[in-house]
Amino acid sequence: MTVNQISTKFVIRNLQNNDIPELVSLPRIEGREMGQETEILTWLNVDPYGIFVAETIEDGQIAGCCCGIALSDTHGYIGMYVVKSNYRGLGLGRILWNAAINRLGDRNVSLSSAPAMMGFYREKGGFSFTAKWTVDLYIGTNPILPSNAFSRPLPFTVLVYPNGPFIQHVIDYDHSVHKYDRSVIVKQTIEEKGTLTVMALNASIDDNLQTTGYACMKKGLQGRWLIAPVYAEDYSSARSLLHGLMTALSDDQRKEGVVAKLVSSNIEAAKLFNELGMKKTSYQLQRLFTKEVFEIPENKIFALQSSVFCTE
Ligand SMILES: CC(C)(COP(=O)(O)OP(=O)(O)OC[C@H]1O[C@@H](n2cnc3c(N)ncnc32)[C@H](O)[C@@H]1OP(=O)(O)O)[C@@H](O)C(=O)NCCC(=O)NCCS
Repeated sequence: MTVNQISTKFVIRNLQNNDIPELVSLPRIEGREMGQETEILTWLNVDPYGIFVAETIEDGQIAGCCCGIALSDTHGYIGMYVVKSNYRGLGLGRILWNAAINRLGDRNVSLSSAPAMMGFYREKGGFSFTAKWTVDLYIGTNPILPSNAFSRPLPFTVLVYPNGPFIQHVIDYDHSVHKYDRSVIVKQTIEEKGTLTVMALNASIDDNLQTTGYACMKKGLQGRWLIAPVYAEDYSSARSLLHGLMTALSDDQRKEGVVAKLVSSNIEAAKLFNELGMKKTSYQLQRLFTKEVFEIPENKIFALQSSVFCTE
């Protein structure tokens, strides 16, 4: 279909709050491991103009979506690019894609690509820069608790509540990892309904307590518990964080399964998640960029926040 023909059948517009339940059915059918409705709301709060949908004029259905989230003035992220199977091949994807790309202006934009889409993004999409690492999906069907984290006095973990005393520590720690201001993203993530956040603390040489990481967990779109992110100074902090999250689940909840996305170059992260009984799957995404590979401290990223909306 030509663009004119498409415009007689579909409206391209920004996502509204009341579209969210219908919207999530698209990535859910595609098997995407991401958060549920509340996660979409988080990112809509971060960037109200960042998620585009195609709506059918005939019956008001959502036929496709693509997000172009402005993470900062200099960073953007393209994700959740899905057109319902019965509307594919009409040119709708390209229009949604262009809307998301245009929204991000001259930011350095990144995305996570499935192997089949690499050629498309690199040659036609302008995503010429590829990170050396991949995003690897780990799943545990009946995860075990990491051993002896609590038999050590430090690092220990505390729960982080929205508006509680630790929020600023988490924001500061996140800044030390990402090197740009993500305070709104961090606050929204912690406030997300159904999300559990823990923070790791350790004693420094002068006996002051220092934040050595934080981690979040929530129910994912495929029914598993999604651990996203785990950012930590070192292996023992990451292990304490995972212990904190896992002990918050009942045995029955753990049996619903656990999922996390790891950076392939962080060997300690793989070791830790293996310790939990989680196994690497064949699902692997490549991270692409428009201007340059955005360097991340791979050794501190034990699990990504999201491979749908975020740079890490
Ligand atoms: C990818 C997707 C969103 C494209 O939507 P669509 O409406 O079918 O796409 P269009 O009809 O607008 O085609 C746009 C262009 O993308 C290309 N394209 C579409 N799907 C492609 C694929 N799987 N691999 C490579 N190129 C693809 C088309 O060839 C077309 O190229 P052209 O501009 O040279 O004609 C849709 O196929 C889909 O939902 N796929 C399943 C989910 C998915 O794989 N998402 C991407 C995850 S990284």
